[in-house]
Amino acid sequence: MTDTYVGAVDQGTTGTRFMVFDHAGQVVANAYEKHEQIYPEPGWVEHDPMEIWENTKSVITTALGQADIGPDQLEAIGVTNQRETTLLWDADSGKPVHNALVWQDRRTTNRIEALEEDGLVGPIRHKTGLEADAYFSATKAEWLLENADPIKMERTRPDDIQDRAERGDVLFGTIDTWIIYNLTGNHITDVSNASRTMLYNIHDLDWDDELLEEFDIPRAMLPEVRPSSDENTYGSTNPDGFLEAEVPVAGALGDQQAALFGQTCFDPGEAKNTYGTGSFFLMNTGDEAVESEHGLLTTIGFQRSGEPVQYALEGSIFITGAAIEWLEDMSLIDDPAETAELARSVNSTDGVYVVPAFTGLGAPHWDQRARGTIVGMTRGTRREHVVRATLESIAYQTRDVAEAMEADSGIEMQSLKVDGGAVKNNFLCQLQSDIIGSEIIRPVVDETTALGAAYAAGLAVGYWNDLDELQHNWQVDREFTPQMDDKHADAMYSRWGDAIDRSRGWAID
Ligand code: G3P
Repeated sequence: MTDTYVGAVDQGTTGTRFMVFDHAGQVVANAYEKHEQIYPEPGWVEHDPMEIWENTKSVITTALGQADIGPDQLEAIGVTNQRETTLLWDADSGKPVHNALVWQDRRTTNRIEALEEDGLVGPIRHKTGLEADAYFSATKAEWLLENADPIKMERTRPDDIQDRAERGDVLFGTIDTWIIYNLTGNHITDVSNASRTMLYNIHDLDWDDELLEEFDIPRAMLPEVRPSSDENTYGSTNPDGFLEAEVPVAGALGDQQAALFGQTCFDPGEAKNTYGTGSFFLMNTGDEAVESEHGLLTTIGFQRSGEPVQYALEGSIFITGAAIEWLEDMSLIDDPAETAELARSVNSTDGVYVVPAFTGLGAPHWDQRARGTIVGMTRGTRREHVVRATLESIAYQTRDVAEAMEADSGIEMQSLKVDGGAVKNNFLCQLQSDIIGSEIIRPVVDETTALGAAYAAGLAVGYWNDLDELQHNWQVDREFTPQMDDKHADAMYSRWGDAIDRSRGWAID
């Protein structure tokens, strides 16, 4: 009998990956391509959705080719994605009307401030679980409807976009929706991605009419919302398309929720932190939507067909791994792998703190106008100190959300599962354990985002039978336990809040 597998598209902020997994949850194929980051103005960040789709096809074809797997050996495909990133496209041509506005994009900051003045922050938090912020899709979609210039983009008919959106001729989507649409022809999102739009009521489980009215978003342009693991499937790939096979697309999750699922955090109280462009710390709260009193978000974790939605508390940290990329861009390092050795070569930062608030501050501080700051430099400051301070900023930001998580949930954290590119760095994992004073557990498969999407799709089609089977697949690679004296860790952390304060409110229009 020919072996069969499940594939997952992981469309992230910096690139697109396709991974193929076997029954044991082991990786059998993996291909990755980066895409262009477009910065039209300071604080604006765009992606070309056509480039993303071309790369998606390319990584799927490459990964299958490398492992000599035929597309008909795929029992299902799952999709996971950078969340909140927003695009509109023409239903006739299938072409975007503008570049996608990336989750990091800050162009709608003023609009959020207007919402604050209108007293809408509380109602928005109550309905969506989110802190009103330019991070989410609502104000991005509103901006696109008002400002997309189809003629300039040479991508769609030049008549009025708002009218065409009212008729469902222009469609809204986050990146999961864009990939699912291109794979299957169907306009669908899953509950976890819908919960990041700031348009979706996480209690009623429907698009919220009052919010749609506030942002002038026609319901006709919105995708159908489905479970994250859907026995009915979202559709199948076209046998006459690039894959030349009919493969069901049966699972979708925002990348952070996918990592929660891939880390098998299926029960209330289980938590993970993913270190990618930013870091996203999620704790499963079961079928209760816990409202945060400490600056966290309430979001949808996942839903399986016929089962209740599972909620999560989330601490969204905008910049962690991207701070290491910034060190590279600034030529302070040649390769991220060097950071551990450079950081170890000095005993401390000598009082230097780096606050990488390049796109404002997310949880639990929420300051759209904060910007990157380095404080405490002296004539003796060396790049080693700045590199170490950058790694420390990752650990401190995680402690900020870990403390908020404990305060909101009342659960004292004993251990934290970690994943994402930066956890290959043992120095960072140890530092993280020291700074938060709990055990850090790194699994064997650290690409848990793709794994989670594969699990969602594979469960839907019966490739895996149940959650126990997935839990059985999960294996520890290494555990890091706190080595630093608590008092020393607290002393290091105590000045972090002052450094944060100095980064606040810096950006002007
Ligand atoms: O909310 C944004 C998040 O989903 C981005 O994740 O891994 O693409 O940086 P990542």
